Amino acid sequence: MADTTRIAIFPGSFDPPTLGHLDLIQRGARLFDRLIVALLRNTSKQPMFALEERAEMLRAIAADLPGVEVDAFDGLLVEYARRRGAIAIVRGVRNGADLGYELELSGTNRHLNAAVDTIFLAPAGQYAHISSTLVREIAGFGGSVRGLVPPAVEPFVEARRHPARVTRA
Ligand code: PNS
Repeated sequence: MADTTRIAIFPGSFDPPTLGHLDLIQRGARLFDRLIVALLRNTSKQPMFALEERAEMLRAIAADLPGVEVDAFDGLLVEYARRRGAIAIVRGVRNGADLGYELELSGTNRHLNAAVDTIFLAPAGQYAHISSTLVREIAGFGGSVRGLVPPAVEPFVEARRHPARVTRA
């Protein structure tokens, strides 16, 4: 009998994972039998956190979520999706600016492999302003990232937090 397990990939840099990412992982896990949270291994960006650290943070926040797996991939996302037998790619859309970029990405992925659809999920409203970029910036200036990242991620970011600076006029 054919395998009817519905598998989706949630790809990204997750540098670091945020509460918005966690919200999307929970939503994706409810929609599919298996959700593979997939870290891009080779990126032109210089990440704040090493791949293994990001995988550790993701495994910590996904530990209680049935059907969620953490993995890393190289090369084209659609080729990885094909290898893993996925029917869908899950991407988060927080606002109109995200949508423009995500439509470009999904159109290109469809061109490369029409068998895999992209599903856009919106995070809960209270997470719509959160991005990994801003979390890194706050940490770099010594600010607190509480309420922006899952509690299990906080110690990782704290370890990179720039000591609070006192500025004089
Ligand atoms: O969290 P990010 O950085 O927005 O994730 C971007 C990601 C990893 C989904 C994207 O860069 C990607 O899929 N890279 C793999 C290479 C690829 O398949 N490129 C063609 C898609 S246009």
